[in-house]
Amino acid sequence: MCQHAYSPFRSVLGHFPSGVVAITGHDLNGGPVGMAVSSFTSVSLEPPLVGFLPGKSSTTFPAIARSGTFCANVLASGQEDVCRALASSGGDNFAEVSWHPGPHGDPVLDGIVAWIGCTIEAVHDAGDHHLVIGRVDDLAADTTADPLLFFRSRYHRLAAA
Ligand SMILES: Cc1cc2nc3c(=O)[nH]c(=O)nc-3n(C[C@H](O)[C@H](O)[C@H](O)COP(=O)(O)O)c2cc1C
Repeated sequence: MCQHAYSPFRSVLGHFPSGVVAITGHDLNGGPVGMAVSSFTSVSLEPPLVGFLPGKSSTTFPAIARSGTFCANVLASGQEDVCRALASSGGDNFAEVSWHPGPHGDPVLDGIVAWIGCTIEAVHDAGDHHLVIGRVDDLAADTTADPLLFFRSRYHRLAAA
């Protein structure tokens, strides 16, 4: 294995562009929980499966795992504030975020590009992260909205071709 005093892993992997997804769920009291991820992906068409990778130190994922369901909200261009709120740990990160209950009672955020409501099918071990596979139960998209993009640790928006 290649040894360096400075690990370029984060820096180099940050050159892979992605969208930003708010993974939402609910706690034992039905209150909203959520975290921002760039690791969301489509997995299988038949059966319809998606995936994301929460860090093992996430305090949000245990509540989502306990409930057994989640909603993947694809953030829209201009929703950097929503992303920051859901990337913060502790406190009420839904205080400034408007939403309504979607499938399984998991939050569907206002102003997003698309949402995908899922039941957790499997949680695999993946180093310092979990690989979570969700079976898609329900989904919808706003075909006119542009996505929020994340690249080299910064937010971007689509440029007209
Ligand atoms: C653009 C962006 C992408 C992120 N992607 C991930 C990810 O794929 N997996 C992850 O575990 N955390 C990711 N995070 C960090 C989590 O949002 C954050 O660590 C987490 O919500 C912390 O709160 P928690 O400990 O309450 O779960 C990302 C943050 C940002 C801003």
